[in-house]
Amino acid sequence: MAADHTHVQEFFGARAADWDRKFPDDGPAYAAAVAELGLAAGDAVLDAGCGTGRALAPLRDAVGARGVVIGVDVTSEMLAEAVRAGRDRHAVLLRADVARLPLRPGSLDVVFGAGLISHLPEPAANLRELARVTRLGGRLALFHPIGRAALAARQGRTITDDDLRAEPRLRPLLASAGWRLLSYADEDARYLAVAVREG
Ligand SMILES: C[S@@+](CC[C@H](N)C(=O)[O-])C[C@H]1O[C@@H](n2cnc3c(N)ncnc32)[C@H](O)[C@@H]1O
Repeated sequence: MAADHTHVQEFFGARAADWDRKFPDDGPAYAAAVAELGLAAGDAVLDAGCGTGRALAPLRDAVGARGVVIGVDVTSEMLAEAVRAGRDRHAVLLRADVARLPLRPGSLDVVFGAGLISHLPEPAANLRELARVTRLGGRLALFHPIGRAALAARQGRTITDDDLRAEPRLRPLLASAGWRLLSYADEDARYLAVAVREG
């Protein structure tokens, strides 16, 4: 049965109009993260949970006009903001759940997911679906423009090792879903975990 995304949609739907205004200085962090992925001209890349599409311009720059950039999100208000900002000129935007992507097996070179994984109701199954649509040797980048400790402080929490994004939890979770963790950075100014798709 498909997961119920009502809570996620209400949460992000209410925040969509102010999303970019709330985080006006994040642009360079997205561009730097995309630059680390080693995307090549002509590659196919998915921005999973693309929100207002803050990563779409750097992703398009990286793959060029011959490449494919797809942004998916379950929250229509976020996608509407992406369109309002003109970011639909960089990517095909789809309202879709990362649990069931309308994409062929192995059709992507890279999946980029910013701020996504903590919101997934079934992370292992959802990461497996992202693996399904990625070719062998393709990569998954889980990104956030600030690190776990800085984000927790912003939200009035403390971080613990049972956080899904902590390396001791993330590594086996990814492995169970067809991904091998290649690099892991959790710094004040960014969180970036990169994994490779394995058979
Ligand atoms: C924290 S926001 C990040 C948005 C954007 N990636 C950014 O960095 O600005 C998380 C986004 O993931 C989307 N999302 C959550 N669960 C999803 C799912 N199962 N499938 C697709 N999108 C989802 C939300 O609607 C929201 O737009």
